[in-house]
Amino acid sequence: MKIIRTIRALQLWRARQSSRNVHLGFVPTMGAFHAGHQSLMQRARRSCGTVVVSIFVNPLQFGPTEDLDEYPRPRQTDLALCRQAGVDVVFVPSRKDFYPPGFQTSVTVGVLTRPWEGAHRRTHFQGVTTVVAKLLNLVKPHRAFLGQKDYQQCCILNQMVTDLGQGVNMVMCPTIRESDGLALSSRNGYLSSSARRTAPVLYQALNMGASSIREGETSIKRIETVMQAHIRKTSNAKIDYLAVCHTETLEPLNHTRKKMVLLGAVRLGKVRLIDNVIVNTPV
Ligand code: PAF
Repeated sequence: MKIIRTIRALQLWRARQSSRNVHLGFVPTMGAFHAGHQSLMQRARRSCGTVVVSIFVNPLQFGPTEDLDEYPRPRQTDLALCRQAGVDVVFVPSRKDFYPPGFQTSVTVGVLTRPWEGAHRRTHFQGVTTVVAKLLNLVKPHRAFLGQKDYQQCCILNQMVTDLGQGVNMVMCPTIRESDGLALSSRNGYLSSSARRTAPVLYQALNMGASSIREGETSIKRIETVMQAHIRKTSNAKIDYLAVCHTETLEPLNHTRKKMVLLGAVRLGKVRLIDNVIVNTPV
């Protein structure tokens, strides 16, 4: 496995690949790997001839009161997991190399970035699109693999590659969960033991909403009430949002449709959990 630490070295490596007709798969990450990241790498490994993973804790996507400095950086363990997953190249740039002094370009996607996570983390998505646009320009992959857990991020990055004609096939891979349903996240380690016991309520609520739809409930208000009531009855989690949305525009729906996504975010102490469930109606 090759470890590349600078943009220049990555550009040289990528230029050499152009003559080798490789099918290149890319997994952008911030490190602190869990089984969710491993499943993205494995999926890339199965479907692409060459797999590149980036590990970069992107300062642009953290708000001023967020956990940039505390964000876990177990670099040696992460590299070992990449090796185990059969990754070919790991790109680990320094902050200074990736955003050199004078860096002043940003990539902004429009309406998709405004609701839900965008409303709670004002500058977050611009940070994500800026870093991913630059990574895609450098790596020039054929396919990029992202986790469904960050559903809004997947939609926004899809929109970005379409709008910018980046020609990358964005592959959304299933959320990997603990046995009690909690979606894996590098931030789950921040949960206190009592918050950890409570944390599955979000996925439970989303599943209750999905079940009510499958059983024929058509009132969006009642579906949302089912989800909210479960969280309020069984936990002290604070609800940021629980909504029934269009799977592509992410607009909140007034009526149920054939396919919908239930999006949710709650706060347990200082930890924010997000999750989602895609639901297809029987008709
Ligand atoms: O999902 C993440 O880990 C990050 O937002 C990403 C896509 C690697 C960009 O920094």
